[in-house]
Amino acid sequence: MSSDKPSSLLFFVNGKKVEEQNPDPETTLLSYLRDKLRLTGTKYGCGGGACGACTVMLSRYQPRTKTLLHVSATACLLPICQLHGAAVTTVEGVGSTKTRLHPVQERIAKANGSQCGFCTPGMVMSMYTLLRTTPQPSMEDIRAALAGNLCRCTGYRPILDGYRTFCQETNCCQLKANCCQSEESGTDGAEHDKPQLFDKGEFQPLDPTQELIFPPELILMAERNTPPETLSFCGENMSLICPGSLEELLELKTKHPEAPLLMGNTHLGPSIKFKGVVHTLMISPFRVQELFEVTHCPEGVRVGAGCSLSELLTSLQKLISERPSEQSELFRALTKQLKNLGSQQVRNMASLGGHIMSAYPNSDLNPVFAAGNCKIYVASASERRELPLNQEFFVSFGKTLVRPEEVVLSVFIPFTSKGELVSALRHAPRKESAFSTVTCAMRVLFCEGSSVVRDISLFYGGVAPTTVKAARTCQALINQEWSEPALSRVYDVLLEELELPPSAPGGKVQFRRVLTLTLFFKFHLELLHKLKHMGWISCEVPEKPLALPSDIQPSVQHFQSVSKAQSFHDAVGRPVMHKAALSQATGEAVYCDDLPPTQGELYLALVTSSRAYANIKGLDVSAALLVPGVVDVITAQDIPGKKVRSDFGYDEDLLAQTQVLCIGQMVCAVVADTRAHAKSGAAAVRVQYEELPDPIFTIEEAIERSSYYEPRRRIERGNVTEAFKSVDHIYEGGIRLGGQEHFYMETQSTLVVPVGEDREFHLYVSTQWPTSTQVAVAETLSIPSNRVVCHVKRVGGAFGGKVTKTAILTAITAVAAWKTNRAVRCVLERGDDMLITGGRHPVLAKYKVGFMNDGRIVAADLEYFANAGFSVDESPLLGEKILLHMDNVYNIPHLRGSAAACHTNLRSNTAFRGFGVPQCLLVVENMVTDVAMTLGMPVDQVRELNMYRGPSLTHYQMEFNPENLLLCWDECKRRCAYDSRHRAVEQFNKQNQWKKRGTAIVPIKYGIAFAEGFLNQAAALVHIYKDGSVLVAHAGAEMGQGVHTKMQQVASRELHIPISKIYISETSTSTVPNTCPSAASFGTDANGMAVKDACQTLIQRLQPIMQKNPEGSWESWVNAAFFDKISLSSTGYYRGPDLHMDWEKMEGRPYSYFTYGVCFSEVELDCLTGDYRTLRTDIVMDIGRSINPSVDIGQIEGAFMQGLGLYTLEELKFGPSGLLYTRGPSQYHIPAVCDTPLSFNIYLLPDSENPHAIYSSKGIGEPSVFLGSAVFFAIKDAVSAARSDSGLSGPFSLDSPATAERACLTAASTFTQKVPASTAGAFKPWALEI
Ligand SMILES: Cc1cc2nc3c(=O)[nH]c(=O)nc-3n(C[C@H](O)[C@H](O)[C@H](O)COP(=O)(O)OP(=O)(O)OC[C@H]3O[C@@H](n4cnc5c(N)ncnc54)[C@H](O)[C@@H]3O)c2cc1C
Ligand code: FES
Ligand code: FES
Repeated sequence: MSSDKPSSLLFFVNGKKVEEQNPDPETTLLSYLRDKLRLTGTKYGCGGGACGACTVMLSRYQPRTKTLLHVSATACLLPICQLHGAAVTTVEGVGSTKTRLHPVQERIAKANGSQCGFCTPGMVMSMYTLLRTTPQPSMEDIRAALAGNLCRCTGYRPILDGYRTFCQETNCCQLKANCCQSEESGTDGAEHDKPQLFDKGEFQPLDPTQELIFPPELILMAERNTPPETLSFCGENMSLICPGSLEELLELKTKHPEAPLLMGNTHLGPSIKFKGVVHTLMISPFRVQELFEVTHCPEGVRVGAGCSLSELLTSLQKLISERPSEQSELFRALTKQLKNLGSQQVRNMASLGGHIMSAYPNSDLNPVFAAGNCKIYVASASERRELPLNQEFFVSFGKTLVRPEEVVLSVFIPFTSKGELVSALRHAPRKESAFSTVTCAMRVLFCEGSSVVRDISLFYGGVAPTTVKAARTCQALINQEWSEPALSRVYDVLLEELELPPSAPGGKVQFRRVLTLTLFFKFHLELLHKLKHMGWISCEVPEKPLALPSDIQPSVQHFQSVSKAQSFHDAVGRPVMHKAALSQATGEAVYCDDLPPTQGELYLALVTSSRAYANIKGLDVSAALLVPGVVDVITAQDIPGKKVRSDFGYDEDLLAQTQVLCIGQMVCAVVADTRAHAKSGAAAVRVQYEELPDPIFTIEEAIERSSYYEPRRRIERGNVTEAFKSVDHIYEGGIRLGGQEHFYMETQSTLVVPVGEDREFHLYVSTQWPTSTQVAVAETLSIPSNRVVCHVKRVGGAFGGKVTKTAILTAITAVAAWKTNRAVRCVLERGDDMLITGGRHPVLAKYKVGFMNDGRIVAADLEYFANAGFSVDESPLLGEKILLHMDNVYNIPHLRGSAAACHTNLRSNTAFRGFGVPQCLLVVENMVTDVAMTLGMPVDQVRELNMYRGPSLTHYQMEFNPENLLLCWDECKRRCAYDSRHRAVEQFNKQNQWKKRGTAIVPIKYGIAFAEGFLNQAAALVHIYKDGSVLVAHAGAEMGQGVHTKMQQVASRELHIPISKIYISETSTSTVPNTCPSAASFGTDANGMAVKDACQTLIQRLQPIMQKNPEGSWESWVNAAFFDKISLSSTGYYRGPDLHMDWEKMEGRPYSYFTYGVCFSEVELDCLTGDYRTLRTDIVMDIGRSINPSVDIGQIEGAFMQGLGLYTLEELKFGPSGLLYTRGPSQYHIPAVCDTPLSFNIYLLPDSENPHAIYSSKGIGEPSVFLGSAVFFAIKDAVSAARSDSGLSGPFSLDSPATAERACLTAASTFTQKVPASTAGAFKPWALEI
């Protein structure tokens, strides 16, 4: 029995023994690694097991089988107390730049699979674990291993290509007719002589004998320790007992029925962290052998409740291979669901018992267990019993028939008998690593040799608070022949018995109801095929519902190599690996929160408003101050200087003073000695509110109440009103675009360190704009800027979200540091980051377009409304950028636009890659699509017809030449074999009723530089040290976009030295002052010129010495210069173009030049569920002469994938009170590996020159976000094909994102027609359309 004496914990990390005398059971492996062992390579990305940033390898010795088990696991959900006897391997244990790089680290780095690098250690660990168990993986193995690792920068293609080199499969691009290995390919012949982004010949081979061995001590311990002794751990808030035997476990459960059993912690952990559930005692049965046994019996298999879902999968797969097919129908259905349940990391941790007992309404397995007549064995100290896993077992939300004092021992999964068929299906918002929207399973027993139903059982998840049986539907089918007419009679029964109220939690009510029908229909098709295969029916059966294609193919990256004459040392134009990629892949790269804490450092947690619009009547911080470790509470009154940030004449409170204007607005902050204490303190603060009437949430409400930020802008070319009078057609339409979360993998992070004298402060911040952070802190503390130094080592992704919001957060943190005179760190949890910091503006747009019969657009009038939120931020500028891009590539003679930023009571939206252009252009291209649909013309023809040609003027009178745009267009069409592909799609659509393909080709013209001319300046500082090494400082913040790498390349060319001699340490306001933000795709243009300037000054100074000793080395010249008293340090400056826009005259030159691009995409759509796959994407981009093709191609791919997420996947959901529901990767889905186009090809337009930017390059960070819309329009094209099967033609509305829900409902199948939408206004929707 448990002793009261706390136990000691023993495990290994990276081959080193770790012993903890009385660890706190609340401590997760992630915080232990980072805070205690200072192994900061393992990253925090979400804390809920859903992003993979914290992936480690967990190894255990299994004494019964005498084998080692290596699995990947998410450290954020692993309590260290579960690790007794385990060995943990982190990225630091895999390899290092100081000793030996591991091939998994080398390959991801050299294949350019690491941009900001924040996801990289997690990727490395997932791949490393795979290789430990499968040294020669297939591409499918790799895809599955990485399915739970999110990356916001790369678009995954380079990671997959890097890791593909571990496979034995072909490395050919597989572009069929245009295959890169084919001499006759449409490309220029010897494609294989073309330069490659990386040389796989350079890679070290994988040598499994070099891996860390499992600690022999742990093997001895495991062998010795049967039966294991009881362990007990006691922490500040919670105790944990780990009994060593079943008997003890059952006794404990009788004594503490309220104590949950801690297994994988994948349900308990998130409920404690995110829902504030409190447990003072937990019992961990992970050492009770009986729970892990798998017993084979004549009727089936009994699987221990402690087995992980991965172990369950392996056991079932083994049985499937051993047993006759007719016996393993249920096993196959389960394995299908298991492969799609969560990620591999989750499946490795989650237990079978924990899964059933969590009783999720949308559990993937419970409907299969229930339909398959599985049984569960439970025990208490006094009784053992067997329960059928049926409808009665799942009592209500999260509740089952198992009593609190009982433990689930095992689950019995029966063999199926002859004529018994089982199927399981799920539909989730993302194809992988996402909870299901609707999931279901069906078992049908047919009378021998016929299609007559003897028994049937149909269970659903996601349509009620529990797993439910469609009992009446089953009843209606018994003794019926399995046929289309019998089924068509039961659809109505099914809909009726699975009624969902229109305000049901989770929303998507109409879609979920449609899915109950369409998944059932898919079962029907599957069964028909099975019956036919068995020879039990002989009639013709309709097409089989095949899964969407999923084979990821090698891709093509096409760029120009540098000329043979270029000096070997000159790195410009070469695909140089990201400067920090190796450090990132080894976990050595230091991000803000990786900095070791200083003596006495405090953590800051924010208290945010729980009301959307209210007066603050009182703030009671007394309880917070009593929380152990809490040092102080910071309120607006504590701010010594400016209490607001001001923009466009509007003030935004740093901390709310008298009123709150949105849920999530920052009210005060608690500082404490640990993160946990600061969080508890923040939870103890009480704010009294007096709610104010009529908050505004939606754009429509803002329009109705004229709630706008000024200035609003308008622009017009020609005379639109007059032109409408003379056109053949007028069409009026519109489209709504949802917002987008930045989802940088590194959440907002800031550390403020008071120096201790003269009011000096050092800031270590993850920001895109160090100067703005410095200024914000100086103003807030009322000190001069010269006392504040802002340091940025690197940023783990930013995308526009780390400009203004970071400055505010740092200013608040600085107040805490100023008040306590101690260093203060603030790292937002993912949920807080999403709640507080805002993202891309949702936009509602209306348009009226006039056009001729031949497709020429003569006039267009577009109105844009952006939901800006509760503070102004940069929203009016966003409106301006929208209006400046609304011509896209089209010469519309009469064009009018207006843009308004709506003032609402939601989080304040801010800059996001593309700054309004992705929203603006989707509207324009949707309008062009409507024109084509009205006329029944191919949309690419309408696009072509209306494009600018020859020397042209934009609608604001800026001159430009669209020649390169037209070259991109033609090249893209050629590369993707547009016409034949289009024909093939038409053919496919004729042959398939439930699956449709669609294509789209979209162009972009994107203005580069800041329209606010003063922001186009930059400075640099270059030092040459006596040993010849060079230190470059410039104004750009490295956030994954490779600006430091490119600056090294610039310095290499100018100083004529290899980049190995050039180093960039950080971006700091003390080396380069008064900087502009790293934004607007202008970082390289501006900083490159400044670095060039500084280097040229230095080389001029060295010139006389070099001439004196032409044979000398760089080092000798530098040394001589020092002795000649020549300064080896220089600043550089770039004044930038004087751009301007006169909004009164509606003309100007707001951009330096345009970057052009064209993207083709093809998708396959499952019309029954709305699921889609991007089969192929080809992008042709004009980026001038690329300074670094691997960095630039990485930017194109990454931005495209962000666009794909924006337009097809990512949905923010706000409740009716203005609360953001989607506050983590389990609810908000950014693209994962499964979303990468199966064939993803990038071509840089050759021979393009650009006189306006350094070395003829072009800015590329933002433009290709919009190219992701090719997937949106391809989905629309496929939906259109489905609609025409239903007799619908002409323009139709499809809002963005074109999620599966929207695509399915718009496709208007016979099933969707059975489920009409509830009447708006007649119910309170679960979520708002903001
Ligand atoms: C990121 C993520 C993605 C996920 N995706 C999916 C998905 O796609 N589909 C899906 O269906 N599920 C999904 N899940 C849910 C996951 O399957 C469950 O959380 C998991 O199976 C619970 O098992 P566990 O061992 O971690 O339980 P724990 O969290 O350890 O425990 C959960 C509950 O079960 C009880 N319990 C555990 N074992 C026993 C036992 N032997 N006897 C009695 N009670 C017991 C505990 O008391 C506790 O109340 C996901 C979870 C995460 C974190
Ligand atoms: S931090 Fe652990 S999975 Fe996201
Ligand atoms: S490189 Fe993957 S998140 Fe930045």
